[in-house]
This record gives sequence, structure tokens and C-alpha cells, in this order.
Amino acid sequence: MKHIEWKDHKLYLLDQRLLPEQTVICANESVEDVCDKIRTLAVRGAPAISIAAAYGMVIAAERYRFGDFREYMEENHRLLAATRPTAVNLFWALDEMKQVWQKASPAEAPALLLAKAKEIEEDDVRRCLRLSENGAALLPEGARILTHCNAGALATGGYGTALGIVRKGYERGKVAMVYADETRPLLQGARLTAYELRADHIPVTLITDNMAAHLMKQDKIDLVITGADRIAANGDAANKIGTYGVAVLAAYHHIPFYVTAPLSTFDLTIQSGSDIIIEERDGEEVRSFQGVASAPRDVPVENPAFDVTPHELIKALITEEGVIEGDFEEGIRRQFARKAR
Ligand code: MRU
Repeated sequence: MKHIEWKDHKLYLLDQRLLPEQTVICANESVEDVCDKIRTLAVRGAPAISIAAAYGMVIAAERYRFGDFREYMEENHRLLAATRPTAVNLFWALDEMKQVWQKASPAEAPALLLAKAKEIEEDDVRRCLRLSENGAALLPEGARILTHCNAGALATGGYGTALGIVRKGYERGKVAMVYADETRPLLQGARLTAYELRADHIPVTLITDNMAAHLMKQDKIDLVITGADRIAANGDAANKIGTYGVAVLAAYHHIPFYVTAPLSTFDLTIQSGSDIIIEERDGEEVRSFQGVASAPRDVPVENPAFDVTPHELIKALITEEGVIEGDFEEGIRRQFARKAR
């Protein structure tokens, strides 16, 4: 089943809010529909958001009727860009789309934008496959891997970053066990990572977030791999809230901590992680789960959706261009220079 699909002038999305209990595909016919699905995490994960937004711009161009075409497209670009602030892939994809509609007439824009959105989607799968090869080569035999949140097929064009490496490693007989942090408050680890790995018959054990330290101490984890939503020029990496804590625990227990992402997740305009905007989400996500209260209704909460892992805690960054270790700044620059050629 495809979780993102363009068909009959509509964007079909698997509603990830309902997984694993229900598999519901919803049709999106307007830019507002797509914005709503991104904002409410029906589609989530940095590359998947960018692909959905790219198709959102196709919908915009197809629905154009009258008035100034560029102003109209600019406004739709703004609406999609305002959905979530942290994952840079969203802004990267919208800029890619902008380069197309800026040069196109209203009549030619829909077809050109559709071709570009498909290219972004297919390109993401290729990038994920390549970074997965690069990452799988680093895995020891019988690897027991901890991961946080969901950086799998559902979060990307269809293969995954952290779970892509797991998939490739498993194919090569190197993965003994994946420990999935449940990932409070929205349980992407429990609902999505556990679901994906079970579907692929890859051994997975679900743990609550507060169990990681204990398992590390018991020598049950060989390495940690997570995805990222934005990586700064110095290698600091924003990812799902709780990732930073796992990295600190891994450092204390001398367990290698890897971050993997395609180059579309890097933001070279940002020198360090302190410049990354962290999304604050509604407190209700912490006070309750799927409508059931788990705290006093009026208790104040904080709900940052992401945190930043400083590069000092990261053993290596794994991208489609290779593995960056040591001087991250230099390594990232080199990969971008190589890609530009
Ligand atoms: O809030 P989410 O579910 O969109 O957060 C997702 C993550 O933090 C992922 O780890 C990240 O986007 C990488 S997905 C390949």
C-alpha cells in the first residue's frame, strides 16, 4: 500500500494518526486539506512532509482560475510553509517547486510541477536506498539497534532513513534486534516503527522512552540510529523530542550514536543547532492521548516536538553521499560540493 499517492488530480495519504489500528487513506483536493494533514501529523517525517507539500503546490496550480498567478502561487507556498517549522525538507521542496512555477505560465505550470513533485518523491527513495547501503556497511554482525521516533518508509518516499539502514542490514543478516522507543507524546515509535518492522518481519522490541538507560546498562544495545529533521552546518541535528536524551545516555555508556538523513535535511544557512526553530505543539498532546485524559485538564505543560543533539555526541552522519566522521563541518561541505558537480 502506498502511503503517498498522486492519482486523478488528488493527493492520497495514508492517515498516520490512525495507525496501527486503522488503515485509512484520505483524499486531499485542496491546499488547505494538505496543510491540515501536515499540521495534524496525518503525514509526518521530514521527507514525507516535503513530498506532500510538493504535491500541494501541484494542487494549487491545477486549481488556479484568475488573478495574478505568481501572487496566488506565492500565497499557497506561504500556507504550506507555515504548517511546521522544524523539518527543513519542507522548505527545500517548496523552493524546488518555486523554481518551476516562477518560470512557467499558468497553463504549463500544472504538468511541470507534477513532474517535479514526482521527481522529488522518486529521488527521495533513491537517496534513502543509497544512505541505507552506506549505513548498513557500518553495522556489526548481530547488531542490536535502538531507534527513536519513526524514520521509516512512512516518514519518507517509501524506504526510510534509520529504518532503511535497518532494512538493508537485516537483508544482509546483520540485525539481531531493533529496540523501538515508544516516543512520547505521539508514540511514533510504538505506532509506526513497531508496525513497519513487524510488517517486514524484522525482530523488534518496543520499550518506553524511560527504559533506554536501563537496557544500555544491561549491555543490550550496540548502537543507536535516528533520523533528523534539520542538520546545521556544524553537524548539530534536530530530531524528535527525546533524541538528545538518548544521545547523552549513549555517550555515557560508550555506545555509538549515528544520525542519518539525505542532504535535503541539511541546512547550511544555519551554523549551529541553536539557530534551529523548535516546533511547540498543543499541550493537549501531553495531557491526553487520543482523547483520553492522562493528566489534570488544567495542568500547564511544555510540548516541544523536537530537540537538538549537539554534534559532539554524534559518532557519524550517514547520507546518500557517504559517512561523515571527525570534522563534520568539513565533511558536510565536501559532500555538498561533490553533489553540486
Ligand atoms: O513529528 P514527526 O513525527 O514529523 O517527527 C519525525 C521525526 O522526528 C523523524 O525522526 C525525522 O523526521 C526523520 S524521518 C526520516
